[in-house]
Amino acid sequence: MSANHRPPAIGILGTGSYLPPKVLTNFDLEKMVDTTDEWIRTRTGIRERHIVEEGQACSDLGAEAGRRACEAAGVDPEEIDLIICATFTPDTFCPSTACFIQHKIGNKRAFAYDLSAACSGFSYAVTTARHFLASGLYRRALVIGSEAMSRFINWKDRNTCVLFGDGAGAVVLGEVPEGKGILSEYLGADGEGWDQIIIPGCGSRRPATPDALEQNLQYLEMKGNDVFKFAVRIVGEAVEKALAGTGLTQADIDWLIPHQANIRIIEAAGKRLNLPKERLVVNLDRTGNTSAATIPIALDEIVREGKVKDGDIVALVAFGGGLTWGANILRW
Ligand code: UT7
Repeated sequence: MSANHRPPAIGILGTGSYLPPKVLTNFDLEKMVDTTDEWIRTRTGIRERHIVEEGQACSDLGAEAGRRACEAAGVDPEEIDLIICATFTPDTFCPSTACFIQHKIGNKRAFAYDLSAACSGFSYAVTTARHFLASGLYRRALVIGSEAMSRFINWKDRNTCVLFGDGAGAVVLGEVPEGKGILSEYLGADGEGWDQIIIPGCGSRRPATPDALEQNLQYLEMKGNDVFKFAVRIVGEAVEKALAGTGLTQADIDWLIPHQANIRIIEAAGKRLNLPKERLVVNLDRTGNTSAATIPIALDEIVREGKVKDGDIVALVAFGGGLTWGANILRW
């Protein structure tokens, strides 16, 4: 790259999402564990979530969201050069879910891989794809957040099973006019918090032995209260850091699309950033926490509702296992 080369502006050309049809309500959960609709609604804001059908896997959700994003972008899936699937609930450890998705959407030219950053995965993946495209070596990327959380949930553990849902969201990234698209990002990690959200077993540390399964180590465990405190702090901080250097302030944000984990976390972030409720995008009442998929699903919903106007400033912000976090500022 020559010294005066200006990297092209990279932005979102189209969005798509997919929620499996089966719905599990709080009232259904009342029959499964010692909980109430009232507790779940007041502590989290969630009323219902979508759950995969028998035989449906992460790549089935991701491929459908990916197809829809390509259609919205007017891009043939065959024209995609790079596919990144953010997930920590893959179809299999090997091959990657991104490769399954590539096959399902009928693409042969892309390189494809999964990105593991738990609930921050979509923000990490958008950032990664942006820089691949800004290099000028690749033209179009399909970035997907897809999760089949229900496969990794202990349905007897009320601390976790009421929180999560399944689904996928996707975006096609490519060159956009100068001044638009992804303006900045701020990513971070703190591995010291590795034990706050973890699937402890069935990896190389605790292989999938009968003993590990007996101890339910294949399921997600979370220190909910610690994550809550971390999230309330990091969401506002990450957006402020991502805004720095863009010439924008928090008052310029038209749409804040936060990771959909808990309405109380979202409201605290809105308060810290001094944003009115109408600018906070919330859909967790219908979806639950779909981890890496929450942000692209919520984004797709407001785009299809025609809410996002040309020139709007959109802020994405996520946090999750790792611990990890990420924020991206975009001009639509
Ligand atoms: O995607 C990123 C990962 N996840 C998150 O961001 C989650 C972040 N954390 C949270 O959203 C909240 O911490 C939770 C919703 C998980 C929990 O809310 P909380 O206000 O932090 O409640 P708590 O953990 O302090 O628990 C309060 C009580 C406990 O009972 P005791 O010990 O006070 O008697 C829990 O056993 O609520 C009990 N409890 C429940 N009760 C009814 C926990 N889960 C349930 C439940 N139904 N499902």
